Amino acid sequence: MTPRSFLLTPELADYVRASSERPDDVAADLLAETAAMADRGEVPPTFQIAPEQGTFMQLLTRALGVRRAVEIGTFTGYSALCVARGLPDDGSLLCLDTSEEWTAVARRYWARAGLADRIELRLGDAHESLRALPAVQTFDLAFVDADKTGYADYVDQLHPRMTDGGVVLLDNTLRNGRVLDPQNDDDRALVELNAALAADPRWETVLLPLSDGLTMLRRR
Ligand SMILES: C[S@@+](CC[C@H](N)C(=O)[O-])C[C@H]1O[C@@H](n2cnc3c(N)ncnc32)[C@H](O)[C@@H]1O
Repeated sequence: MTPRSFLLTPELADYVRASSERPDDVAADLLAETAAMADRGEVPPTFQIAPEQGTFMQLLTRALGVRRAVEIGTFTGYSALCVARGLPDDGSLLCLDTSEEWTAVARRYWARAGLADRIELRLGDAHESLRALPAVQTFDLAFVDADKTGYADYVDQLHPRMTDGGVVLLDNTLRNGRVLDPQNDDDRALVELNAALAADPRWETVLLPLSDGLTMLRRR
C-alpha cells in the first residue's frame, strides 16, 4: 500500500497526486522498492512519508533558499531525496539514523539521483549525534521523523542550531487521529509536545493537516 494522507480516501489521494508534480523515475522506484519491502513484512508499512509530502518538502526547501539541512530519521531515504533535490548545488543535507540496513537502500537511490555528494549520513543515536554538533546557528531546515518520545529533545537540541527564521518540520504530529484519544506512549508524547509548542515563544508554530500531520516551526 502506498502511504497517503490519513484523512483522504484513496480516490482523493490519487487526485491530490495527479494535481501535483509527479515523483521522477528514481523517486518512483524508491517508493516502489520500499512498498515491496513493506508488503514482504521487512519494514513497517507506515514509515515512509507520502509522495505529496515529499513534493511539498522539496518545493519548500527550494522556496526557502535552504543551504544547510538536517534530517533525523532517514529510513530508505525518500524524504532525504526530496530535501536534497531542493538544495542548491553547494547545499548540504546531514542525515541521522541508526539503521545501516535501511539507509543502504537510501544510499543507492541518492547515488542514482546524482545527489550523494550533497548528503552526509551519520549512523548512531540521533540524540547523541545532534548533541555532538556545535551549538551554533547552522541549519536553515530540519526534518524530524524518528523516535516520537524523543521529539521534545530534538526540538530543544535543534533550537540553538537553527538559523534565524530557520524552519523545523515535525512528522506524524496527528498520530493518525489518535491525538484526540492517545493509545500509547508515542501518542501521549506528541499530544504533550503539540500543546507545549503552541505556547512556546521560541517558535512560530502551525500544525498542517498534511499526511499524518506536519508541524512547521519557524525560529523567531
Ligand atoms: C519513520 S522512519 C523515517 C522515514 C523517512 N523520513 C522517510 O520518509 O522515508 C524512522 C527512522 O528513524 C530511525 N530512528 C528511530 N529512532 C532513532 C534514533 N534514536 N536515532 C536515529 N534514528 C532513529 C529509524 O531507524 C527509522 O529509519
